[in-house]
Amino acid sequence: MTTTSPTTARSTVQAFFDPRTWTVSYVLWCRATRRAALIDPVLDFDMKSGRTSTASADAMEAYVREHGLQVEWILETHAHADHLSAAYHLRERLGGRIAIGAKIRQVQAVFKKIYNLERGFLPDGSQFDHLFEDGEVFKIGELEVTALWVPGHTPADMAYLVDGAVFVGDTLFMPDVGTARADFPGGDAQQLYQSVRRLLALPPETTVYVCHDYPPAGRAPQWQTTVAAQRQENIHVHDGIDEATFVARRQARDATLDVPTLILPSLQVNVRAGQLPPAEDDGVRYLKLPLNVLGRAA
Ligand SMILES: [Fe+2]
Repeated sequence: MTTTSPTTARSTVQAFFDPRTWTVSYVLWCRATRRAALIDPVLDFDMKSGRTSTASADAMEAYVREHGLQVEWILETHAHADHLSAAYHLRERLGGRIAIGAKIRQVQAVFKKIYNLERGFLPDGSQFDHLFEDGEVFKIGELEVTALWVPGHTPADMAYLVDGAVFVGDTLFMPDVGTARADFPGGDAQQLYQSVRRLLALPPETTVYVCHDYPPAGRAPQWQTTVAAQRQENIHVHDGIDEATFVARRQARDATLDVPTLILPSLQVNVRAGQLPPAEDDGVRYLKLPLNVLGRAA
């Protein structure tokens, strides 16, 4: 599912919604130069059969080709726990540099241990082409982008601020859904609150693009809102909710949530920038399922 493209004088944003994982990926491009960034692309994965598919990535690729865009960046907001990343696949198809926040090293170290990954996997971020520091400025064509470190959901989350819009990853969701969970390894509700307040200090008219939507019954999926709407209406963090209240509510809610269906398949691929694990001596690639490591004992 895609939507019409919000367009400013300088940039166009095209959203791609994946109804299986409720993920929103974006193509953002500079109208003057047709240089583009792909944000949080999805590699489809069927848990039952163990099959991957590039159907979602193919739709992004087709859009890029139809519009004659040149991909400069493939941006991850974080190492996702609900879908596999198509960053590696799309770099093979379209070029560009895969980038994520510099704290990905911390996430890689945690998950290297959880999966007992091969010795050759180094938790040094080298699987990515570039690691962003907080406040780093980079270009997509003539568009200037600022990378903001917004930890809490994971230690490595980044938001990307560009041309009056901010791609917030898994920090804020739509106002009637609230905020992302903060109970993954390295997650921290207090940090998430601080990160959200930093985003909500942006000019009120700033467009907010979220990375997921889990719409309440009766509402179609949405992914575009504003800082002003979030400050007024976000059910978890509207203006007036203090840190202690947020943290207590966030932690209480997280304690009720199941581990995401695809967390174990996803992380072992996403800490490799979307590259599948190396093939074994039979030529087949395998995902691992560490037993009794994540979640709570029944
Ligand atoms: Fe996430």
